[in-house]
Amino acid sequence: MGRWSRLLAPRFVSWLRIPRGVHWLDVGCGTGALANAICSHGDPASVIGCDSAEPFIEFSRDHSRDARVSFVVAGVGSLPRRRGGYGSVTSLFALNFFPDSDAAVHEMRSLASPQGTVSACVWDYGDGMEFLRRFWDAAAAVDSTARALDEGSRFPVCHPEALTELFRGGGLGDVRCEPVEIPTAFASFDDYWQPFLGGTGPAPSYVASLDADRRELLARRLDATLRRGPGGAIALTARAWAVRGTVD
Ligand SMILES: C[S@@+](CC[C@H](N)C(=O)[O-])C[C@H]1O[C@@H](n2cnc3c(N)ncnc32)[C@H](O)[C@@H]1O
Repeated sequence: MGRWSRLLAPRFVSWLRIPRGVHWLDVGCGTGALANAICSHGDPASVIGCDSAEPFIEFSRDHSRDARVSFVVAGVGSLPRRRGGYGSVTSLFALNFFPDSDAAVHEMRSLASPQGTVSACVWDYGDGMEFLRRFWDAAAAVDSTARALDEGSRFPVCHPEALTELFRGGGLGDVRCEPVEIPTAFASFDDYWQPFLGGTGPAPSYVASLDADRRELLARRLDATLRRGPGGAIALTARAWAVRGTVD
């Protein structure tokens, strides 16, 4: 998933249109895709990336060369405060993983400065995140138990109405939610399928739980149903929902 975060992060930063010279907080920063995009596309005064997982913070520190960025181990519930607040408090592909998204948005708002922006971006698991949608549809066709693991049903917050409601309920004004899309191109079926065999996350974990015969059945179903372009390439789109609101 990291490669798609790196591709989408700059588009999300551009969509936000945050003025230059702002102090940012990136909540659930993972390996730093958004923090890096903020530096290259947002001209920030500073960026603090925080995540509850220490290995991600260590990785981000080791791979960051921008003096404006720092990374700290901190989870929702104890996010780092800044005197005067942050002009932009944001989160990429993490909101749906927080234990309580209402509490997370309230906390993010409480850390923003007056007139600051609170934002988040989540994948459209239910529909527009096509390479995962195709995966779970094929999995459900060959195994009825797969439906329960599908992020499309597990993360009801990843819909524009739910996100808008969440941000309004969090006390934010001028709330807007819009799609942000990237192309996700795969050179071949193998290029599409390999990440499901070794990665982390619900879909690779599901594949790892299958015996060899059922894994082969799923692979054959996908191979037969994915539409190919010239040379066997699989060209799909991944849609995310970007939401933002302002502190009054
Ligand atoms: C799908 S990853 C996204 C990472 C990164 N923002 C990106 O786009 O590549 C979700 C991240 O949320 C973090 N996370 C989950 N629960 C958290 C919590 N309660 N507080 C802070 N971070 C959390 C995970 O450790 C993980 O790094």
